[in-house]
Amino acid sequence: MNQPDKALLTPWPYPRWIAHRGAGKLAPENTLAAFRLGAAHGFRMFECDVKLSADGEPFLLHDSDLSRTTSGQGVAGEKRWDELSWLDAGSWHSPPYAGEPLLRLETLARWLQANELMVNLEIKPSPGHDALTGEVVAREVRRLWAGQAVWPLLSSFSVEALKSARDAAPEVPRALLLERLQPGWLDAALSLACVAVVGHHPELNAERIGQAHAAGLNVLTYTVNDSERAQALWALGLDGLITDAVDHLAPDRP
Ligand code: G3P
Ligand code: MG
Repeated sequence: MNQPDKALLTPWPYPRWIAHRGAGKLAPENTLAAFRLGAAHGFRMFECDVKLSADGEPFLLHDSDLSRTTSGQGVAGEKRWDELSWLDAGSWHSPPYAGEPLLRLETLARWLQANELMVNLEIKPSPGHDALTGEVVAREVRRLWAGQAVWPLLSSFSVEALKSARDAAPEVPRALLLERLQPGWLDAALSLACVAVVGHHPELNAERIGQAHAAGLNVLTYTVNDSERAQALWALGLDGLITDAVDHLAPDRP
């Protein structure tokens, strides 16, 4: 199959393979233990979910509520960082990870930079905090990655969060996350001055990938854990793939 013409796309500094929430399901998601395991499997880029504590500290957590993946309870965004920092974010997964703490964005930045690794920060606002989360995460990224060769890629399902990230730090690249590619999806991404869209993989096909490329947007997808599906998407010209399957879809084992 012919590859779509990518000559007009923005230069893309990111690797094709991206480990979901650090290391998918093999370690407690969004903890440093997960990133270390993902890196040990050869991944050079990671997706993770970022939200704010009540006192404005950006940290990693997927859910709004603490109970699934930590020893805490209640809405994470209603707790101060000094309360969140004591929680156990590893025991829920398995005994070897007992005591693993929640991860501040600042700590993650230090670890990624020390190891020359890249990241896709999904802005995952607590309910009702979209604009503030986008703004604070973008400002923190500007501060923490100043002078680095490659920015994190910011993404979000929240248009409001991406708008405020764009207003706060327009130079930090953005991608619009799309669970469904509804009419107007390309215009939505372009109006946010995104460099990419990140689509749920069943929504992607040759026509849609070609439309995005023709509009100057790269195309990433989540969350693909099947090697045949991954190969089919690469053949359509996909630019990046987020996976949980870090043990059998590792980049050094295509
Ligand atoms: O960023 C891609 C993917 O992580 C979006 O879905 O629910 O796993 O954060 P979710
Ligand atoms: Mg995510």
